[in-house]
Amino acid sequence: MATQVRPDVPQPAPAHGARHVAIIMDGNGRWAKKRLLPRIAGHRAGVEAVRRVSRAAREMGLECLTLYAFSSENWKRPASEVADLMGLLRHFIQADLDEFHANGVRLRIIGNYKALEPSLVALIEDAVKRTAGNSGPIIAIALNYGAQDEMVRAAQALAQRVVAGEIAADAIGVGDIDATLDTADLPPLDLLIRTSGEQRLSNFMLWQAAYAELYFTDMLWPDFDANALAQALDAFRLRDRRFGGL
Ligand code: IPE
Ligand code: IPE
Ligand code: MG
Repeated sequence: MATQVRPDVPQPAPAHGARHVAIIMDGNGRWAKKRLLPRIAGHRAGVEAVRRVSRAAREMGLECLTLYAFSSENWKRPASEVADLMGLLRHFIQADLDEFHANGVRLRIIGNYKALEPSLVALIEDAVKRTAGNSGPIIAIALNYGAQDEMVRAAQALAQRVVAGEIAADAIGVGDIDATLDTADLPPLDLLIRTSGEQRLSNFMLWQAAYAELYFTDMLWPDFDANALAQALDAFRLRDRRFGGL
């Protein structure tokens, strides 16, 4: 059953102090392989983990949870797996949007999602629009997302503004780039989690992770749950973030 929070009631600042957590949800295939199941079974179990962790993030008072669901490099996978992932995404939006909306969640997308299949793009834009007026936490899904592609698109947009005479090239600063990336109106990234034991960023939020705390766990994504998120937030709370100062 959907857990309801009252987005209109001010919530106390959570003790962990994190506003924005992003997760590289990795290990679905290995989870399935361990069980002698097809990879799609791992992706299905991964969607269940997305549901659990989205609820937990709300309950733990996060302002924003960003989930890496499909990278700009994942097109290299067999067409049948790509189709399975797109099917799961479509089903997830259709099945879960009501719960998100009822809980005041704002659904956001980062990545070049417009390159996806047109009916999926329409479904996504509809879902984003429907929840845009909510005042609860943001769930941002990274779709066809690659940080390098995001930065290339931002560079192109800024270059166009220079050509149009709106800004001077040498006046471009960090804030302009921040404001041109897909994450422009998301809170600064505090904690970046990757499951499955891999210790790399795989082209995820390279700019935004400049001062994020990194947390790697061997747990496979379909096994991740509220407890695992709480553990990551406990670890975050103990980190000493100096941002280059003392
Ligand atoms: C993450 O699980 C899901 C996506 C990248 C879409 P994987 O499918 O990468 O699982 P492994 O890494 O093969 O175990
Ligand atoms: C990163 O996982 C992308 C997502 C979780 C969506 P991958 O499984 O694609 O990363 P690599 O290939 O191991 O670097
Ligand atoms: Mg993987």
